[in-house]
Amino acid sequence: MLEGSSWNADRAQEIVNEHLGLEGPMLPILHALQEEFGYVGAEAAPLIAHTLNLSRAEVYGVITFYHDFRHEPAGRHILKLCRGEACQSMGSEELARDLLAKLGIDWHGRTQDGELTVEPVYCLGLCASSPAALLDGEPIARLDAATLGEAIDEARGL
Ligand code: FES
Repeated sequence: MLEGSSWNADRAQEIVNEHLGLEGPMLPILHALQEEFGYVGAEAAPLIAHTLNLSRAEVYGVITFYHDFRHEPAGRHILKLCRGEACQSMGSEELARDLLAKLGIDWHGRTQDGELTVEPVYCLGLCASSPAALLDGEPIARLDAATLGEAIDEARGL
């Protein structure tokens, strides 16, 4: 299923059950839930905790420890902005800080219009063209505030 379908407790339980035979099923379950629904929300923790016989705190701990998991549905477009060393040395942190402030969101956040989610990544293999990012899976590189803004506006059809 495509990312971003709305949460469905029955389907979520099916997904959890499908992974019960695995050793260490928690991370595969969380990835599968995110793939199905586009995020791993607070609703997932009690369900997983109950099925795996863990405390909710343990499950929350895992969900919040890993940066891979979104905690709310993703925006229509996803920007993965590189925070790796090469990109940092070319100003990616400042670029990110200004962009997030302009959009009024934090990492993993979604703009109010539901259009854009911004996530960190740590090296895209595009170090020679840093700062780099993926916008809806497409690499964009040698970014500055203007080119990044233009790419986002174009994706959003602005
Ligand atoms: S550090 Fe950003 S692409 Fe390698």
